[in-house]
Amino acid sequence: MTETGPVPDPSDRPPTAPPAAAAVKIAIRGLHKRFGPKRVLEGLDLDVPEGRSLVVIGGSGTGKSVLIKSVLGIVTPDAGSIRVDGTELVGASRATLDAARRKFGMLFQGAALFDSLPVWENVAFGLLARRLVDRKTARERAIATLARVGLGPEAADLYPAELSGGMQKRVGLARAIAAEPEILFFDEPTTGLDPIMADVINELIRGLVRELGATALSITHDMASVRKIADRVAMLYGGKIIWEGPVERLDDSGDPYVDQFVHGRAVGPIEVGVERIG
Ligand SMILES: Nc1ncnc2c1ncn2[C@@H]1O[C@H](COP(=O)(O)OP(=O)(O)OP(=O)(O)O)[C@@H](O)[C@H]1O
Ligand SMILES: [Mg+2]
Repeated sequence: MTETGPVPDPSDRPPTAPPAAAAVKIAIRGLHKRFGPKRVLEGLDLDVPEGRSLVVIGGSGTGKSVLIKSVLGIVTPDAGSIRVDGTELVGASRATLDAARRKFGMLFQGAALFDSLPVWENVAFGLLARRLVDRKTARERAIATLARVGLGPEAADLYPAELSGGMQKRVGLARAIAAEPEILFFDEPTTGLDPIMADVINELIRGLVRELGATALSITHDMASVRKIADRVAMLYGGKIIWEGPVERLDDSGDPYVDQFVHGRAVGPIEVGVERIG
């Protein structure tokens, strides 16, 4: 089990420690990204504390996925800084980016499984691609990881098309955690699931993040999910993080934008843009 490096010891990071005491795992400063004339991120600042679960909330199209993709290196920011464990990723060399990515596990919006590969190969994809283990070991590891997300060995040889949406999410989760990453990213982990399955997935995320002692950065507009998986919450609006605080403060944030979003009100400072439709 030495091929994935040292596994973080969850007992090193007591969940009750105050946030101020936690080291910053991901530090984002002045992040800008535009697509043609469309400005998406306009000077975004955010700290993700080590061993904590931070959830970014915000309306559809505000740039939540662009934010996560920037950290993952899938989107290239126009300006700004993204440091992971103090290492700058914006403009970094391929080798530096590859080293950072080895710390990452990602559950994409919509699970994004490879349709042509059976479940076990999807789960073991990162291990196989990086030639960390042989196929037999990879399959065993995949089956053990599937068990962690509540799927039996009989799921290993199914193809994604044969799975329900909830099972696909579980497989996506298993793939995200297979290499026991230090940092987990979840993009809309509960989208398209019924409320009960959504709750099951939220519980799994909460439990896995704790077990791994991982740092988690998630994005969602599902408030039930936020309340279940977040230690801290940040709200993205107008290309910036306009509020950040502990999840307990969500209902009395004192911020009218957060308040409108959290309570799903049509009327408030957030321009919904309904008048432009039709
Ligand atoms: N590769 C791209 N090329 C052009 N525009 C893009 C690209 N990726 C994102 N955008 C635009 O950036 C904006 C933010 O997109 P993003 O996917 O980050 O939104 P989001 O907050 O994740 O929304 P949702 O909640 O619907 O997933 C959108 O207007 C989108 O059209
Ligand atoms: Mg998105």
